[in-house]
Amino acid sequence: MQLTIQLKPVVAKVVTALGLVLVAGSGWAANADQQLIRQGEYLAQAGDCIACHSTVKGKPFAGGLAIGTPIGKIYSTNITPDKQAGIGTWSFDDFDKLMRTGVTKQGYTVYPAMPYPSYSRLSQSDMHALYAYFMQGVQADPTPNKEADIPWPLSMRFPLAIWRWAFAPKPEPYLATGNSSGTSAQLLRGAYLVEGLGHCGACHTPRGVGFQEKALTDVGNRDYLSGGAPIDGWTVPSLRNEHGGGLARWTNADIADFLKSGRNNHTASFGAMNDVVAHSMQHMTDVDLDSIALYLKALPAKNTEAAAFKPDNKVAAALSNGVVNTAGAQIYLDRCAGCHRSDGNGYSKAFPALAGNAVLQTGDPTSAINIVLSGGAVPATRTAPSALTMAPYAELLNDEQVAQVVSFIQTSWGNQGGNATAAQVAKVRKTSVPVKPLTETSFAPGRSGTFAASLVGTAPK
Ligand code: HEC
Ligand code: HEC
Ligand code: HEC
Repeated sequence: MQLTIQLKPVVAKVVTALGLVLVAGSGWAANADQQLIRQGEYLAQAGDCIACHSTVKGKPFAGGLAIGTPIGKIYSTNITPDKQAGIGTWSFDDFDKLMRTGVTKQGYTVYPAMPYPSYSRLSQSDMHALYAYFMQGVQADPTPNKEADIPWPLSMRFPLAIWRWAFAPKPEPYLATGNSSGTSAQLLRGAYLVEGLGHCGACHTPRGVGFQEKALTDVGNRDYLSGGAPIDGWTVPSLRNEHGGGLARWTNADIADFLKSGRNNHTASFGAMNDVVAHSMQHMTDVDLDSIALYLKALPAKNTEAAAFKPDNKVAAALSNGVVNTAGAQIYLDRCAGCHRSDGNGYSKAFPALAGNAVLQTGDPTSAINIVLSGGAVPATRTAPSALTMAPYAELLNDEQVAQVVSFIQTSWGNQGGNATAAQVAKVRKTSVPVKPLTETSFAPGRSGTFAASLVGTAPK
């Protein structure tokens, strides 16, 4: 009796002391975790996981986005920490293996629409942060995965393992090697983001016979980011430092501006790039955007033939003197000049300049035709919330007239894109979809359209 009474305060003290240690300990651990989770969230934005792993109506990362491939539709999967439907039972090693090699916990290979060849470059510490975010920072959701709509035998997954063996790089975390010797840490950071998480090459690099990206880095060749196959009727331009459609006329600040706000002095974002800006790039820090710009500007020209844009004011002078001698010029004056102006210079960051615009120098009029038919809306971003729109002209102009006005803008003010034909317009018209004005809510997760079709070849019909 005595003993217990005497001991009690001692026990109480020990317990209290232990409790304090425990509370302090778990508090510290929780903070460290929070930081890791936040880092993981940032990396998930850099990798734009949400764009593919969500649908507009579903919960974030619950999967179910249909992605067209030449053999049928596949669906992205639930990557929330739900133990049944998601990846809640995956260990770090399971996650790491999938991200670097495309092989799931269950042992099969995923379709390369999941850009694991790019993600394989992630550093080990970033992979840990990403894993922490998906396990602890994302809300579990029970939405079950959908089976791919691909008929047997094409639905067999073993050819994917062969694809992986033939085309996916050996898993190798990003190493500061390659052509980057002697270059700054910031340039390397840019390469890491563009070649790795940013998976910019998934759209901007041409694909080879196996639909694989012809290059996954800029080392040893100039195919990397030299322009990809059109996505949903939008041409994917070169991001190399070149004329004729590349970024030669852009300064580093122009690139950072565009990625952050969806607009700059040269252009406004449209098509699949809207998703990249809205879900991913606008969330990057200024330092990271500057690093990306530095890296892109360091990519030497692949297209060395294209001449630099030389402004030519003949057309602007003629239009302002009332000299309108082609049908294209007349349509432009009636329907377009109010926003893009007769000198083609537009209004900076509101209505994009057409004079010198890279979209109008490539010789491929697909994007220009599509934007005239479908219209466009600049993505609303935190730093530039107005989703300025251009109305669709599909109902107002016939194929011939669209060809005339596109030819006009591609050959005026010094532009070198050449003429478009009514046949080209007729082709784009078949798949063009009028763009609705976009609001913040229409930038809910989930990539628009069939964008990922080009990831594995031709667009589905
Ligand atoms: C361009 C579209 C795209 C992007 C971007 C993308 N994924 Fe995927 N991912 C897919 C598709 C499609 C699948 C399913 C492929 C299949 O079933 O073969 C998939 C599968 C997965 C799986 C396997 C899940 C399972 O249940 O088997 C994981 C894990 C995963 N992705 C994580 C991520 C993470 C993390 C990111 C961002 C860093 C990301 N994905 C970005 C398209 C994408
Ligand atoms: C899902 C496909 C896709 C991905 C991924 C993608 N882009 Fe794009 N990008 C496009 C399309 C389509 C365009 C053409 C529309 C436009 O100019 O806004 C474009 C245009 C651009 C332009 C404007 C070029 C010009 O001359 O007008 C820049 C800069 C750009 N992308 C940078 C990037 C960077 C950097 C990344 C990686 C972080 C990236 N893109 C990832 C599809 C993509
Ligand atoms: C109400 C103002 C307005 C009118 C009128 C207008 N546009 Fe646009 N235009 C825009 C806006 C805003 C964008 C950016 C859309 C986007 O980013 O999706 C744009 C984008 C474009 C682009 C793509 C350039 C780029 O870099 O984003 C082309 C080409 C274009 N317009 C041509 C035309 C033609 C040709 C006409 C007449 C038939 C026309 N526009 C009429 C406002 C207008």
